[in-house]
Amino acid sequence: MAEPILSIRDLSVDYVSADGPVRALDHVSLDLMPGEVVGVAGESGCGKSTMAQAILRILPPPAVISGGQVLFEGRDLLAMDEGALRRMRWERIAMVFQSAMDALNPVLTVGEQIADTLRAHGAAPSGRAARARAAELLGTVGIHADRLESFPHQLSGGMRQRVGIAIALALDPALVILDEPTTALDVIVEREILEEIQELQRKRGFAVMFITHDLTRMLQFANRVAIFYAARLVEVAPAGELRMAARHPYTQGLLRAFPSVHGGDVDLSSIPGSPPSLRSPPRGCRFHPRCAVAVDLCREREPELVALGPAHAAACHLVTG
Ligand SMILES: Nc1ncnc2c1ncn2[C@@H]1O[C@H](COP(=O)(O)OP(=O)(O)OP(=O)(O)O)[C@@H](O)[C@H]1O
Ligand SMILES: [Mg+2]
Repeated sequence: MAEPILSIRDLSVDYVSADGPVRALDHVSLDLMPGEVVGVAGESGCGKSTMAQAILRILPPPAVISGGQVLFEGRDLLAMDEGALRRMRWERIAMVFQSAMDALNPVLTVGEQIADTLRAHGAAPSGRAARARAAELLGTVGIHADRLESFPHQLSGGMRQRVGIAIALALDPALVILDEPTTALDVIVEREILEEIQELQRKRGFAVMFITHDLTRMLQFANRVAIFYAARLVEVAPAGELRMAARHPYTQGLLRAFPSVHGGDVDLSSIPGSPPSLRSPPRGCRFHPRCAVAVDLCREREPELVALGPAHAAACHLVTG
C-alpha cells in the first residue's frame, strides 16, 4: 500500500490572546495520498485556513501550533529548520490563497515575480530561460505572454488568481493547497479557473488539498472530502459515499443546504443557528445545540472519530460502524 504524501497527525493550533487561547484547530488528523484530491469544507471560522497555514508554517501571530505533527513525504514539517522548509515551500508544496492580491508583490511585474520564484529555487539557469518559462507558465493558465510586463493591479481579479496558480505550479510541486482560490470571483470565471486547475491536476498528477465553502464544486473535484465543524474534523469519506451516505448530522445538513447536490430546492433552514464561539465551545459534541437528533450523551461527552468503513469515519455518538 502506498504511503501518504501528507500526514497531519493530531494537529492543534491556538490563537493566543490576553483573554486566553482560542483553539482554532483541535486534534485534527488527516492523510493525503500522492495524486489524491482531498476537499475540506465547513462553515466560516471552522479552522480550514488555519490548518492550511499550519501545514506550511505560515500562520500569522498570535497563532501557535500547540501540538501534533505534519509529515510530508515522511519528514515532519513542524520540526524542520527554516532553510529546509523554505526549499520545501513552492518546490514540493505550493499554496494558492483566497486573494492573490495578498500573495503577489504589488511593485513587481508578473514576469519578474514568476522569474524570481524560478531563480530562487535554481529552476532557471539564466534570465532568458526564466522569462521563457514564465511565458510558458502563463500560457498553461490561459494568460497571454504579453501580460509578463503587467503589474498585479493592472490585471482583473481572475487574471491575478491565474497568476497565483501559475506561480504555485512553477516548480512542479507534489502537493498544491488551494484555500478558496476562486471565492472572490464571479461564478463564470470561478468555473473556468477550477476547470483549468482540474485539467492541470489530471495532467500532472499532483495531490491537492482543496478548501472551499462550495460543497457542490468540491464533490465534483475531490476524491475524498473532510468536513470540519468548530475546529474539529467531524466526518471524512470518499466524495461519492459522502454525497449518497453522509452519516454525521452536520454533513447531512450541509448537503441539504446545497441544492445541486441532490437536485432539490435549497433548504437554508437545514442547519438552524450558527457555529459556536471557539472561545467557549459547548460541552460534549460541539454540534449538539444545532442538532435535531441530539441525546443526553451528546451534551456530556465529546464524540471521537470512529471508522465506519475503509475510508469513511465520523465523530457522532449516534453513528456506529
Ligand atoms: N488573529 C486571530 N485571533 C484570534 N482568533 C483567530 C484569529 N484568526 C482566526 N481566529 C480564529 O480561528 C478560527 C478559525 O479561523 P480560520 O480562518 O481558520 O477559519 P476558516 O475555516 O478558514 O474560515 P473561512 O471559511 O471564513 O475562511 C476562527 O473561528 C477564529 O475564531
Ligand atoms: Mg479561510
